[in-house]
Amino acid sequence: MPDTPAFSPAALGELGRIVSHYPEGKQKSALIPVLHLAQAELGGWLSVPVMDYVASLLSITPIEVYEVASFYTMFNKEPVGRFKIETCRTGPCALNGAEDIIGHLEATLGIRDGGTTPDGMFTLQSTECLGACGQGPVIMVGETYHELMTAAKVDALLEELRRQAATMPSAASTATAAATTAATAGVK
Ligand code: FES
Repeated sequence: MPDTPAFSPAALGELGRIVSHYPEGKQKSALIPVLHLAQAELGGWLSVPVMDYVASLLSITPIEVYEVASFYTMFNKEPVGRFKIETCRTGPCALNGAEDIIGHLEATLGIRDGGTTPDGMFTLQSTECLGACGQGPVIMVGETYHELMTAAKVDALLEELRRQAATMPSAASTATAAATTAATAGVK
């Protein structure tokens, strides 16, 4: 990521498309999808310079961006691994063994909740309700849900993600596609 954050022409086009969904002068309403776009386009996390850049793009104050970015776990405030594994820890999932799943992930990957593996492959993040409470324990990786998780299913998921990583283009070359997907997901 350059020292001074800047969207690519494609991302600027996507920004214009997102902002066009909102009335004149209400561009702050586009903040969440634009943060998704910024996160995907500018290195996978929201540094202070990136959040300040978003504020300038939307003509709002930096604190308005910080307060939203810091509220949601889907926005990363520090660098994360190639795959961010979010595990629900809220009541229904907890009753179905979410703590065991989180413990299994920590033991298998050798990191604690919130940490990233030394190879940069995985970040663990426990989170609040993912909205699939009847299917707990629930894990989300990117935009994909994995439900009714067991230790064996976690092992199979990690193996599948490693296989995917081996066949993927570099993280940098997928950034623009991911940015478009993320921003589109934020504006229906
Ligand atoms: S409690 Fe886990 S998805 Fe709702």
